[in-house]
Amino acid sequence: MRERHRDDRSKSANKPQRLVSGETQGEDTPAPMTSGTATNLRPQRFDEYIGQTKLKRKLAVFVEAARGRGEPLDHTLLHGPPGLGKTTMAHILATELDVQIHVTSGPAIEHKGVLAGHLTSLGERDVLFIDEIHRLSPTVEESLYSAMEDGRIDLAVGEGSRARTINFDLAPFTLIGATTRTALLSGPLRDRFQIIEGIDFYTDDELSDIVARTSSLLGFTVTDTGAKEIGRRSRGTPRIANRLTRRVRDFAQVDGYREIDAKQASHALDELGIDREGLDQVDRRLLSMILQQFTGGPVGVDALAASLGEPRDTLESVYEPFLLQRGFLLRTHRGRMATSKAAKHLQIPLPKRGRKGSELQGRLPLDDA
Ligand code: ADE
Repeated sequence: MRERHRDDRSKSANKPQRLVSGETQGEDTPAPMTSGTATNLRPQRFDEYIGQTKLKRKLAVFVEAARGRGEPLDHTLLHGPPGLGKTTMAHILATELDVQIHVTSGPAIEHKGVLAGHLTSLGERDVLFIDEIHRLSPTVEESLYSAMEDGRIDLAVGEGSRARTINFDLAPFTLIGATTRTALLSGPLRDRFQIIEGIDFYTDDELSDIVARTSSLLGFTVTDTGAKEIGRRSRGTPRIANRLTRRVRDFAQVDGYREIDAKQASHALDELGIDREGLDQVDRRLLSMILQQFTGGPVGVDALAASLGEPRDTLESVYEPFLLQRGFLLRTHRGRMATSKAAKHLQIPLPKRGRKGSELQGRLPLDDA
């Protein structure tokens, strides 16, 4: 698989960086040639990819069938939280299809001309990968429809009386879109993908295997228990596992350890402020605020966002998913509540709640809280 990068932009520019964020922090950008020894940790083929077993099996069938027919793979949408491997999977698909991948993102395609540039440079059966596809502008999105359906794109050129439309025929291609926010994708765009697949959080065992693979690629030894400890604190997310592995290696190296065991990994992760449940200081601040300032909740999402000094969207899309998934937080029709698991973990006594505020009552997940 050969890769072309056009205007690929960092998604994380100007955002505060958390060690446990699933968003990329430059790890996915190829290092400049001058840096010498950068190791590509990304699996290149299905058989190197750990986890997502059912998804891999299905995609491998679709790839083999498309190759057998000499056709491009059907347009494919991959969705799921950041850091779980949507981009990696797109690269693997291109490799397994033995075609070029052209990489861009929704915000980087500023107008129809940029999209036309990408589409007209695609070779026969190539993959166009659009990350954050939910962020395409409506006009760009609309031109994508004819490209996906009819293999052509119309482009207006010239102005006034000289204005005319040029119609480009495109080589048969595969669009792979990736999104963390399926709800923000328009119906017409979603309907034009023939393959729609989600990528889920990884199990602790899968993450521990990823840590072992990464440490071996980086040339150091981690024991089974060391890999488990790092995997367990990685929030179900390979990108976080790889980031923590690199940081733990720094501690081990400076402390003079030749291999990383559970004790060494624990020590480094504690120093990095990531506790045994994978929570960092931002998570702990959010939970202790609910427990202490809002007597355990329920507290409305807007009030909570204001107290944290963060936009509601950041609270909902960045802070909450992991806390909800691991049972530290509940989302109820009357607001957010910290659970007894959160209280126990933070060693803050769970404030006494009346019948209305009990966790049982709170287990009515509603989206408008
Ligand atoms: N590195 C990041 N994600 C991975 C995965 N799913 N399998 C192997 N290595 C990885």
